[in-house]
Amino acid sequence: MPFPIQRLRRLRETEPLRRMVRETSLTPNDFIYPVFVTEGQGRREPIVSMPGQSRLSIDLLVKEAQEVKALGIPAMILFGIPDRKDERGSSGFDPDGIVQRAIRAVKAQVPDLVLITDVCIDEYTSHGHCGIVRDGKILNDETLDCLRTMAKTHAQAGADMVAPSDMMDGRVAAIRDELDRAGFVDLPIMAYAAKFASCFYAPFRDAANSSPQFGDRQSYQMDPANKREALREIDLDIEEGADIIMVKPAMPYLDIISAARERTLLPIAAYQVSGEYSMIKAAAQAGWLDERRAMLESLLSIKRAGAEIILTYFAKEAAGLLQSRPA
Ligand code: PBG
Repeated sequence: MPFPIQRLRRLRETEPLRRMVRETSLTPNDFIYPVFVTEGQGRREPIVSMPGQSRLSIDLLVKEAQEVKALGIPAMILFGIPDRKDERGSSGFDPDGIVQRAIRAVKAQVPDLVLITDVCIDEYTSHGHCGIVRDGKILNDETLDCLRTMAKTHAQAGADMVAPSDMMDGRVAAIRDELDRAGFVDLPIMAYAAKFASCFYAPFRDAANSSPQFGDRQSYQMDPANKREALREIDLDIEEGADIIMVKPAMPYLDIISAARERTLLPIAAYQVSGEYSMIKAAAQAGWLDERRAMLESLLSIKRAGAEIILTYFAKEAAGLLQSRPA
């Protein structure tokens, strides 16, 4: 029999046929938009290494939240850029810190947008590490106390969800305990469960001015070579009470997302990080890639791998496109 009986091209012939058999689709509901908030009034500072993204003062952040909501995106995640940093990152757990004030302002104006906060001290420490440092070592258990207070002050300011991104051991349990004691038993935790020591965070560190002043983050973030260990991190965070688990970065770690999807029934989030965003932007600016197609294909691949939630700097652009023409 010289000809194939099964011809997969039969169902590829026309656009409506392709739509009928499409297995994965994107909607604005899939996205969380990451934003950077800074001191001042009417301040919008473009981030050079992340074309299209800016650091915003609180008043402009509120406007941004309105736009995000109008685009049908359910949530934003907030990163604070303080003007005061110290050894312990204390401006990060000040009830009147930049993020805490931003939460109050956004919740007052746009109450039904889900407001998530990043819980990690690196944006607030003078040395740029995600933990308390003594004699060049990052101390685990001492850091947990800072994270507890930080998460509690975010909750008290009105955050809808907290997202610890520090990779200290035991932090999900510590934060759960602190939130419960403070009466926030219903506040969910989205744990950056498998966060790798990746070079793709470089533009973010530029944006947040949070590059470590000595050494690197390999003693707490994961080795990119390790998959079994990522699953152990995920198992532990679930045991400790995480409500959503996250894999970060996204596209270089699609196998981890896929393995996580097989292993747990929890919602899975993936963070398409700054470097993934900026690579596409830069290639598009050079005329080497079609930006829209690269954006949608990358987001679709992350969803296909098994993530139902995608943190992405493309959220607004993608939601705008999807509102007019679903992908
Ligand atoms: C830590 C944190 C980082 C990112 C999110 N939370 C930086 C880091 O670990 O160095 C990176 C996000 C990105 O690259 O877009 N607070």
